[in-house]
Amino acid sequence: MRLAVAGKGGAGKTTISATLARLAARSGRPVVALDADANPNLSVALGVAPEAAARLGPVPPSLVSRRIGGAGLTKPIDEVLDHYSLAAPDGVRLLGMGAPAHADEGCLCPAHAVVSSVLEDLGSADRFVVVDMEASPEHLSRGTVRHVDVVCLIAEPYYRSLETVRRMAALVAELPVPRVAVVANKVRSAQDEMAITEFCDRHGFALAAIVPWSDEVVAADRARVPVVEWPPAHAVVAAVTALADELDTPLRSVNPAERPRNMA
Ligand SMILES: Nc1ncnc2c1ncn2[C@@H]1O[C@H](COP(=O)(O)OP(=O)(O)OP(=O)(O)O)[C@@H](O)[C@H]1O
Ligand SMILES: [Mg+2]
Repeated sequence: MRLAVAGKGGAGKTTISATLARLAARSGRPVVALDADANPNLSVALGVAPEAAARLGPVPPSLVSRRIGGAGLTKPIDEVLDHYSLAAPDGVRLLGMGAPAHADEGCLCPAHAVVSSVLEDLGSADRFVVVDMEASPEHLSRGTVRHVDVVCLIAEPYYRSLETVRRMAALVAELPVPRVAVVANKVRSAQDEMAITEFCDRHGFALAAIVPWSDEVVAADRARVPVVEWPPAHAVVAAVTALADELDTPLRSVNPAERPRNMA
C-alpha cells in the first residue's frame, strides 16, 4: 500500500508518517518512507542519526525519462532502493527527494518527476510506502502523488487547518487516487473532536483516526527521539496504530450522499 500524508504546515505530517512507518516495519512488513518535503526532516523523526541522515542523497533526476503517459524510472526500483535508500531503525528504508542546495537554483520540477516515478514503481501488495509531503498543495496540483492508494489529510481542530484539508481533498478528488482519509491530530478536548467530526460529516469525509494532543510528543521531539521510542507518548502511538488498522480496511462511510467520487 502507498500512502501520502498531507495537510497544513505543522499539522503533524512528519510525526505521523514516521510513526506509521516504524509501526508497519515492526509488524514485519517491508517499508519505504519517502521524504517528499524540499525542507526534509523525516529522517530525524524516524530515528536516523543526523550524521547518517547527511548521507541521504536524492534519487537523481537523470534516472527519470520522459515518455508517453508521464515520467518513468530507467532503472528497476529495487536497484534504486539499494543505491539511494538509507537504513532507518526497524528496517525502514528512507528515500529523499532532496533539498535545494543554493539560492536561485530554479524550480523543483525534476524532483517532483522523481517522486512520481519512484511512487509508481514502489507499488506492491505487501510493501508499505509512506510519503511525507510538504505543506504546500503542490504535490497534488502537479499530480506528483497520483500513484498512491490513499491520501491521509492531517487536520488540526482549527478553522484554517480544516480549510486546508477541504481544499486539498478537492484536489485529490481530481486525481486517480482511490481513497482519502482525514486524520485528526492534536485533539485536546471533546470540543476539538466534535469540531473535526462535524467538519467530516458536513463534507462527507471519512475520519480515519483521532490522535490526541500530547506534551510528550513535543518532549520527544525536543530530545530528538522518535515518538515510537518514547514510552510516555503511548496514547499517540496507540492512535496511530489504530490508524494503521483502519487504513487496511475499507473506510467507514460518513455521509455517502455527499461523498466525493474518489472516497471509497
Ligand atoms: N499529537 C501531537 N501532540 C503534540 N504535539 C504534536 C503532535 N503531533 C505533532 N506534534 C508537534 O507538532 C510540531 C509539528 O509536527 P510535524 O513536524 O510532524 O508537522 P508537519 O506537518 O510535518 O510540519 P511541516 O509542515 O513543517 O512539514 C512538532 O513539534 C511535533 O512534535
Ligand atoms: Mg513535515
